Amino acid sequence: MSQKRAKRPDRRREHGAPKSQARPAQARPDADEPRQAPRPPATLKRRDAPLPAERLPLILEVKPNDDYALLDSGDGQKLEQYGAYRIIRPENQAIWLRALPERDWQNADAIFTGDTEEEGLGRWRFPGTPLGETWPMRHDGIHYLGRFTSFRHVGVFPEQASHWDHMAGLIEKAGRPVKVLNLFGYTGVASLVAARAGAEVTHVDASKKAIGWARENQAIAGLQDKPIRWICEDAMKFAEREERRGSAYDIILFDPPAYGRGPKGEVWQLFADLPALADLCRRILTPKPLAVVLTAYSIRASFFAIHALMRDSFAGMGGTVESGELIIREKSAGRALSTSLFSRWVAS
Ligand SMILES: C[S@@+](CC[C@H](N)C(=O)[O-])C[C@H]1O[C@@H](n2cnc3c(N)ncnc32)[C@H](O)[C@@H]1O
Repeated sequence: MSQKRAKRPDRRREHGAPKSQARPAQARPDADEPRQAPRPPATLKRRDAPLPAERLPLILEVKPNDDYALLDSGDGQKLEQYGAYRIIRPENQAIWLRALPERDWQNADAIFTGDTEEEGLGRWRFPGTPLGETWPMRHDGIHYLGRFTSFRHVGVFPEQASHWDHMAGLIEKAGRPVKVLNLFGYTGVASLVAARAGAEVTHVDASKKAIGWARENQAIAGLQDKPIRWICEDAMKFAEREERRGSAYDIILFDPPAYGRGPKGEVWQLFADLPALADLCRRILTPKPLAVVLTAYSIRASFFAIHALMRDSFAGMGGTVESGELIIREKSAGRALSTSLFSRWVAS
């Protein structure tokens, strides 16, 4: 956590998360929103079936590109290029020294200050011209909006691009209609990538605001005619309902925070709830599924933990479970910044 933010309570730290893989929970309900008790533990039965093959460690890397680049990092900060803007944000893992000269850092368009008195744009400083809340961004030709948010995010997690590209490849190769479920979908870039690749997409997020941003992104991408269902709901409840209805998906993405809340105050706690959600994901797959992709961050765990969970959850289904880390490669000195753990089951 940045020294400047030290006064603000940080949910990650409250929940004992390490400083690494630090992508905090997004859903921050107001104090007067309903709170529910944690979910009762699910009764899961271990599947006595052959485990999928395994491939690990697998490090999926995002290199500097025209849409996004990690320009430099060091001294607890990172300097990134998001479309036309250069942005400085805290980065606890950057315990090394900066490789670029000071003038490159001074040219930044926006700096996250994390001012505890402020919300939204007030938590950002713009050394030159004051900037608006959003700006044009692109991923592989898909247009969407970058966004200065109070919680230091910018409306996209660029390291996810490795998953997006892999998923788009599976959809395009399938040669048949593909249904994708994107749980914890945030601003929807994954949903847009899937829809453009030809899938029918269901996007679920607990935050009404995030769903609004995602719909706005769909319009900006010019993908309004693509079949995307935008659903503001608790991810677990939605998956349970889909099972009851007999709905099924060929690809499921789930990128849960360490801690979050559904719209009705449903509590999400990764360590307690992930096994049940992974099991549910398996139960709502089509007979010929393609992949199930899990990302985890801000937790004190190794990718071996989610690897073991995913292999158990997909026992008897053949295929391979691949696990490792998502990293971003820095442009200045080529250092790797780890952002998340992942584990994915991929059909053979
Ligand atoms: C880190 S974001 C996911 C990022 C997304 N995969 C992407 O690449 O853009 C986590 C999301 O989970 C949502 N969330 C938190 N708790 C939830 C819950 N119980 N059910 C559904 N969504 C939830 C948050 O609103 C937030 O948008």
